[in-house]
Amino acid sequence: MKILIVYATTEGQTRKVARHVFARLAAAGQAPALIAAGEAEGVDPGGFDGVVVAGSVHAGRFQKELVAWVGAEAAALSRVPGLFLPVSLTAAGEDPQDWAGLRACVDRFAEETGWTPGRVEHVAGAFRFSEYDFFKSWAMRWIAAQKDETVVPGQDKEYTDWAALERVVLDWTAGLGAVT
Ligand SMILES: Cc1cc2nc3c(=O)[nH]c(=O)nc-3n(C[C@H](O)[C@H](O)[C@H](O)COP(=O)(O)O)c2cc1C
Repeated sequence: MKILIVYATTEGQTRKVARHVFARLAAAGQAPALIAAGEAEGVDPGGFDGVVVAGSVHAGRFQKELVAWVGAEAAALSRVPGLFLPVSLTAAGEDPQDWAGLRACVDRFAEETGWTPGRVEHVAGAFRFSEYDFFKSWAMRWIAAQKDETVVPGQDKEYTDWAALERVVLDWTAGLGAVT
């Protein structure tokens, strides 16, 4: 099956997630195509059997280029099975208030773009101190401290559960086989 993966990233973790999904689908004998949202203008989801959309949350919002592409293709996307993978640090924890905020971000994304994904699977992201500037690093160390997370200055810390991500993707793909 032909599966389109469109992603947006700020510090790189969602690119890693999208590449992982690509590799897993390819290994499973599917025909995936991977493209960054900023380069996806004119890419028609209608030519695919399924679409995976991945983006990360920063201050409650997804990347502008992801909102733009999904918004432009919302009508076509609504006719194709879709899997949305929001990447965040909230998904690494269990704080009910944070989760309520995260769900509100996903709802706002659906409102802004006009696309309601058939399936949403949250993915825990990473602290990427190697990519932060001074102020981001300072802010993220403060956030980590609030959450009692131990972080080493300058060192990345990844929370993504790769095995769980693979299970989700393969389960979703199996469902596609059932409807086609
Ligand atoms: C400046 C900044 C703001 C962030 N805001 C949020 C947020 O509002 N909610 C959340 O759950 N995670 C937040 N995160 C965590 C990111 O979603 C997480 O680091 C993710 O892995 C980033 O993915 P990316 O590397 O693909 O951009 C924030 C991270 C940074 C650096």
